[in-house]
Amino acid sequence: MEAAARLVGLLLLLHTFGAWANVKVEMEDRVEVFRGATAQISCLYESPEGTGGTIIEWLYLTRSAERRSIYYQDASMHRFLPGTPFTDRISVNSSSATQLTLTIDSVRLEDELVYICRITTLTHTEHGEGSTRLKVFATPDRPTIEGTVTGISTTEDKPKIATCEVRNSFPRPNITWYRNKTPLQVSSNVSISHRTTSESSGLYSVTSELRMRVTKEVKNDFFYCEVSYFVPGETRMMDSLLINVTVLYPSTAVSIWVESPKGKIKEGDRVELHCQGNGNMPSSFTIMHEMSGESWDTNMKVLQDVKVQNQGVYSCSSLDYETSEEVRGNTTLEIHFLRDAVVIPEDSTVVPYKEKLEASCNAVSSLATQTVWLKDKKAISREHMLVVDGMTYDKAGTYVCVISAPEIEGMETSATLLVHVQGPPEIMQPNVTEMEDFLESDVDLTCNVRGFPEPTVTWTSSDGKVLKAATQKQTEQGVQSTLKFKIVSDSTVVCNASNAHGANTVTFNIKATTYTTTAAKTTTTTTTTVLPTKAGLPPKVPRKEGRGVIIAVVIICILLLAILGSVLYFLYKKGKICGRSGKQEFTKEKSNKDNTVVEMKRDNTEEAVLLGVNGEKQPPSD
Ligand SMILES: *[C@@H]1O[C@H](CO)[C@@H](O)[C@H](O)[C@H]1NC(C)=O
Ligand SMILES: *[C@@H]1O[C@H](CO)[C@@H](O)[C@H](O)[C@H]1NC(C)=O
Ligand SMILES: *[C@@H]1O[C@H](CO)[C@@H](O)[C@H](O)[C@H]1NC(C)=O
Repeated sequence: MEAAARLVGLLLLLHTFGAWANVKVEMEDRVEVFRGATAQISCLYESPEGTGGTIIEWLYLTRSAERRSIYYQDASMHRFLPGTPFTDRISVNSSSATQLTLTIDSVRLEDELVYICRITTLTHTEHGEGSTRLKVFATPDRPTIEGTVTGISTTEDKPKIATCEVRNSFPRPNITWYRNKTPLQVSSNVSISHRTTSESSGLYSVTSELRMRVTKEVKNDFFYCEVSYFVPGETRMMDSLLINVTVLYPSTAVSIWVESPKGKIKEGDRVELHCQGNGNMPSSFTIMHEMSGESWDTNMKVLQDVKVQNQGVYSCSSLDYETSEEVRGNTTLEIHFLRDAVVIPEDSTVVPYKEKLEASCNAVSSLATQTVWLKDKKAISREHMLVVDGMTYDKAGTYVCVISAPEIEGMETSATLLVHVQGPPEIMQPNVTEMEDFLESDVDLTCNVRGFPEPTVTWTSSDGKVLKAATQKQTEQGVQSTLKFKIVSDSTVVCNASNAHGANTVTFNIKATTYTTTAAKTTTTTTTTVLPTKAGLPPKVPRKEGRGVIIAVVIICILLLAILGSVLYFLYKKGKICGRSGKQEFTKEKSNKDNTVVEMKRDNTEEAVLLGVNGEKQPPSD
C-alpha cells in the first residue's frame, strides 16, 4: 500500500524544486502513510562533484514555517541532530550514488510535515534542494447511529431523526445521511448539522445530527449514515447500521366495533366494544351510549348481561394529546330477545269429548321465530295455532309449545297446556278381571279411569260393602285407584267410576284357592315361587284339592269290582242262576268298566309320579 502510494507519488508528482547551477534535486511532492507505519522519503540528486564532494542535509518545516535540521552529512562525518521529534526514529541511507532515502519509523500524526533534502557542494559554491509533504492517515472506528426512541411526530417541524458518530479518524472524515438508498440533501425539510471534535490523540471525531420533517409514510423507511475517509491513495466508505423510526401521526378516523360476541347478540350476552383510531399517537378515547348519554373514558368497554335498553348507537371519540384534534366514529348495537311463550288458553283447558281443541302459542321476539307443538315428545304441529279435531282421551294430556329463533343458537322458549277431555269415565281394561289366589292372601286391584271431570271411584264387594281404596292418584287423563283386597272367600269386587257425564264399572271375580292338607305340605316348596304377589295375576298353581279323595274312591272301586268279580265267578261255577242273554250284557258292561279302571289307574299313577316327594319315582303299585 505504502509502496504503491509512493510509486504513484513518484510517477505523478515528480517535481524539481529550487536548483541552482549544476546541483539538481528531485523529490516526490507528497508521501502518504498510515499512522504507526514507516515512511520513506526519497531524494534524487545530481552534483558535479559526486557523492564524496557534497554536504547532505535533511530538514523539516515546522507549522510556523521555520526550518529545523534533523540530519547532517559531509565527506568526513554524518550525524542526527539530537533533541528533535525524530531522534531515534529516523535513518538515512543511499541506495545509489545519487539517491538518498529518509526513513521515519512509527509515524505519528505530528510527523505530517514538509521534509527538505538539501545538497550543497563542498566548495559551497553551489547547492540545490527539494521537499516532500508527508501525509498521515488513521482509519476511523465504525460509525454508530442512534435514532429517536420516543417516536417522531408528523406535526413537529423538522424533529430529530437520528445522530451518527464516527470516532478517531485522521484526517477529518465526512458523514452522509441516507434515507433508504438515497443520500439526503439539506433542504427546507431536511437539516444536517456536523460537529467535529479533536481528540487529545490528535484524531478527529465527527457527530452528525439529522433533522427532518416526516410524513406518515416515513414509518416504512430506514435511515443510516455513511462515513467517507481517506486512506493512502484512496477514499473509503463505511456504513452504520440501519434504523427505522416510529412515526406518530394523528388519527383522521376512529372506528368502534363489537369485538365479541361475533354474530347476532341476544339479551344476557357479554358484549365487548373496542375502539381504535387510525393514527399512531397517544390519545384518549371516550365511548358513549348516545341514547342514555352514559360514557366511559376507555377504548374498551364490556357490557355485562345486556338488555334491550343497551342497544342503540355507541360512539367513540379519540383526542390526540399532541394535536388536540378530535375524531369520532360510531356503531349500532342491536340486541335481540325472545320473551316467554304464551299459550292461550293458559295452563289448562277442557274440551268436550269428540270436540275440537284450539290453542295458540306466541312469543314476542326481535327475530323471526319457529313454533312447534309437541305431544308426548312428538311434533304434531308447526303452526302458532294448534287445532286438533275429535278429541278423545288418547289426545288428552300435556301439550308443549316450543318457540325458537333459529338465527341465534339456543334461543328458545316453551310453555305447556294441559288438555282435559270432558266426558264419561272410561275404565281402561285391567289386565285381568278373573283371578284366583290363595285364601287369606292380599291382591291388588287397580282401576285406571279416564274422563273429566275427574271421576269418583268407588269399590264395592259382592255383598254390597263399600271398600276403601288403598291409593288414589290423579293421572293426566283421569284417576287411578288401587284396592288392597284380602281374599276370604270367592268374591266379586266392583270398581265404579262416575262423573257428571256418566258412570262405568268393571268387575273383578276372585276365586279363593284352598289346599288339602297333604297337597299343601308336599307342594309348599315348589309353589311359593309362583304365588301371585301382584294384583291381577292369576295363580298358576294346578288344582290339587280332592286328589286324595279320588285316589281313595278309585281304590275302593277296584276292590269292590274285584270282590264282585270273584262272587260272579263263584256263582257261574256253581250253577245257572242267571239267564244267558243277561249274563252276556253284564259281562260286556263289566269289561267296559275294566277298561275304564285301567285308564284311571294309569292317570292316577302319572299324577302320583308327578307329585312324588323329593322327585322319587314311585312305581305304579297295583
Ligand atoms: C469531505 O467533504 C469535503 C467537502 O465536500 C471534501 O472536500 C472532502 O474531500 C471530503 N472528504 C472526504 C473524506 O470525503
Ligand atoms: C423497524 O423496527 C421494528 C421494531 O424495532 C422492527 O420490528 C422492524 O423490523 C424494523 N423494520 C425495518 C425495516 O428495519
Ligand atoms: C255407580 O255409581 C253411580 C254414582 O254413585 C251410580 O249412579 C251407579 O248406579 C253405580 N253403578 C253401579 C253398577 O253400581
